[in-house]
Amino acid sequence: MINDKLHNDRFMRALACQSVDRTPVWMMRQAGRYLPEYRAVRKIVPDFMSLCKNPELACEVTLQPLARYELDAAILFSDILTIPDAMGLGLEFIADIGPRLSKPLRDRTSIENLAVPDPELSIAYVSKTISLIKHELSGQIPLLGFSGSPWTLACYMVEGGGSKEFSHPKKLLYSEPLLCHQLLSKITDAIIAYCQMQINAGVNALMLFDTWGGILTTPAYHEFSLSYMRKIIAALPPSTPIIVFTKGGGQWLQSIAESGCRGIGLDWTINLDQAINAVPKEIALQGNLDPTILLADQPAVVKETTRLLEAVAGRPGHIFNLGHGILPATPPENVTVMIETIKNFKAEKASIE
Ligand code: CP3
Repeated sequence: MINDKLHNDRFMRALACQSVDRTPVWMMRQAGRYLPEYRAVRKIVPDFMSLCKNPELACEVTLQPLARYELDAAILFSDILTIPDAMGLGLEFIADIGPRLSKPLRDRTSIENLAVPDPELSIAYVSKTISLIKHELSGQIPLLGFSGSPWTLACYMVEGGGSKEFSHPKKLLYSEPLLCHQLLSKITDAIIAYCQMQINAGVNALMLFDTWGGILTTPAYHEFSLSYMRKIIAALPPSTPIIVFTKGGGQWLQSIAESGCRGIGLDWTINLDQAINAVPKEIALQGNLDPTILLADQPAVVKETTRLLEAVAGRPGHIFNLGHGILPATPPENVTVMIETIKNFKAEKASIE
């Protein structure tokens, strides 16, 4: 494990619920299509996974938003579907549609035959990318690694791509729960090895993206999503804090807080004051600006950013973020307005004190 001293440790301090000089901020999908410099790099590669698999380019795009904005954390540029890709499910990204897996897991045999990949062999490009980013960051700010949650990866692997209902994985869960557990166990083993590899390569914290946990019933969420995230957290060293983000999981915050995670990612549907009441003060909260607000005019951005800051003012352990990924149509100047508002909020308070 790399033990580095960070020049700016606001994000790590807030994640540990320690005091900070101002609220730290980063954005989900901060390296992405809303940035012209990202689109320029994206043009020179044949497809999205070629970008993820090229450590030099993946490092370059990771750093792009940091050159523009005063962000307090970097996030590895990659995707949650690196694991299904390494499992040989035939991943492709189709323009304007999204991910497609040509060999979805639709029967017992394909689940029973599924092998857990060794990430050091089949996802070594991520390890290389992390080393390059850590070198370039030279201790300025922390680097976040990530993985999809077992349930969210299973959704793509069984469905064969994105979907509104994810009826195939949900049908599997309700009709063949044991087989579904077998699949989730294999994915969990793969994720543990993958996250451990990222820790060995130098990430300072990890985030589990449970994008599709929120489509489950309450008992199914606990049994088929949260319990596996808990296993992952228990298997990894506690020195690397983990943030759990279940989209649509606002009603389960109390149980998420008991998963061993150190921070909880919040989508925009839950009010921050409700989350503060539901979650013990030792657990950090990350979020939760509706990304659509960044498409609105600048007074709206200032107003909504300030509203969130006021809702948490005084509670240690808030990391400002969006409630989901930044939208490709976001004007980059609006991000500057959001960040300036966060910085000025502290400045205003300081001038009162
Ligand atoms: O946050 C970051 O800046 C790090 C990079 C990152 C990407 N994907 C890059 C990406 C991260 C953390 C992810 C996670 C991810 N990928 C999730 C979980 C978070 C979430 O958004 O709910 C999911 C569900 C995926 C799967 C995925 N990847 C989909 C469904 C799509 C297509 C839809 C879309 O937004 O285009 C992707 C593609 C993808 N992943 C892009 C980026 C920048 C856009 C592809 C492109 O540039 O052509």
